[in-house]
Amino acid sequence: MKVAGSVRVPGDKSITHRVLLLAGLARGTSHIGGALTSLDAQSSARVLRQLGSELSPLRKGTTVTVRGRGKFTAPKVTLFCGNSGTTTRLLLGLLSAHRFSATLTGDRSLRRRPMRRVTVPLATMGAQFTEQQGDGLPLTVRGGRLQPLRYDMPVSSAQIKSALLLAGMAGEVGVSLREPKGRSRDHTERLLQAFGFGVTERDGWIHFTPGGRLEPFDIQVPGDPSSAAFLVGAATMAQSGELRVSGVGVNSTRTGFLDVLGRMGARVEIEEPATHFGEPVGDLIVRPAALWGTEVTAGEIPGLIDEIPLLAILASRAVGTTTFRQVGELRVKESDRLGLIAENLRAVGAGAEVVGDDLVIEGTDRLPRGKVRTAADHRLAMAFAVLGTVTGARISIDDMACAAVSFPGFTETLREIRGSGR
Ligand code: S3P
Repeated sequence: MKVAGSVRVPGDKSITHRVLLLAGLARGTSHIGGALTSLDAQSSARVLRQLGSELSPLRKGTTVTVRGRGKFTAPKVTLFCGNSGTTTRLLLGLLSAHRFSATLTGDRSLRRRPMRRVTVPLATMGAQFTEQQGDGLPLTVRGGRLQPLRYDMPVSSAQIKSALLLAGMAGEVGVSLREPKGRSRDHTERLLQAFGFGVTERDGWIHFTPGGRLEPFDIQVPGDPSSAAFLVGAATMAQSGELRVSGVGVNSTRTGFLDVLGRMGARVEIEEPATHFGEPVGDLIVRPAALWGTEVTAGEIPGLIDEIPLLAILASRAVGTTTFRQVGELRVKESDRLGLIAENLRAVGAGAEVVGDDLVIEGTDRLPRGKVRTAADHRLAMAFAVLGTVTGARISIDDMACAAVSFPGFTETLREIRGSGR
């Protein structure tokens, strides 16, 4: 395949959820440009409307207008969070400071994902939870007056961290947190700082102090590096050409995959980085390259957690072995991503094993051929579609529609970057 052109990717999913929730809570009208309009973003918009915020429709290319009331109102219906763990967990944090009951649920995948990782510390702060199915959804939260929290997090997770910081903001109490291993994405910290809240870091602890004021705001959301990663992967495996992905968020808590790709031999440059609304944004220039295996350490995992399916695909085409250390968290993503990455790589003729919590991949130059089972996991579908761009590959994927969870138009964009001469 030859790669060519200059493309944009949809807005950052993590930032879109956060700014929708914050705008939904602020008293007054906010404007959000470049917001993601995918199914996950629609889930945040839908539940915000059910909590009393007014939002204009999320449509590609339009600015979203959000009118918040300064607080949420009690919902009349069960809040359906679709496939979105971020919507659910961040909202549980905000609802913990609201004196009413709300019940949250989601699709089959979301209902099986663990929620105690946020409800246990939120209960320590003073919120009450009623489970219907053990550690998952549906779940009812009744918020109230909150206590300050000091908490050693059992896993490095931006969703847990953000749920607790947002509870601190909405409940006007201090929160101190420590992540065990590696640093997860810090968009919530940056946004809270921009509103004048005290967010500082010392000796591995993140300290939140109340005192800021959530005001309506205007913001432009950068392109999602996690979506860009799939195009970077396809361009790296191409035989010739060059691809530019412009306007991508390059916050260092999100670009761990570029460091790993660099070690594997990839040729990716970041051009013209500039800071917009507290987040660095730049263009990625990608040229094809031969890859070799590497070891991805446990400390690196939180900074590339969503890019492991794509990195695993690239590792299957690299010379030698690639090991991802301690990636057990992948078992509780939109699917059991750890098991399915290995199973599907073997199904298309590559070597892959799960050893304890490590993922070990043997590269091969055999043509990838076979059937892929995604369990409706968007990132698995997109990663294996990228593997399908290898010349001579024959891969059938059971569900490509699920790409719309995070990357509407993915298949078209992947087609668009293929220059002539495939
Ligand atoms: C996200 C955090 C990560 C990531 C998810 C988005 C966020 O989840 O996998 O896609 O926006 O905070 P965890 O916090 O569970 O690792």
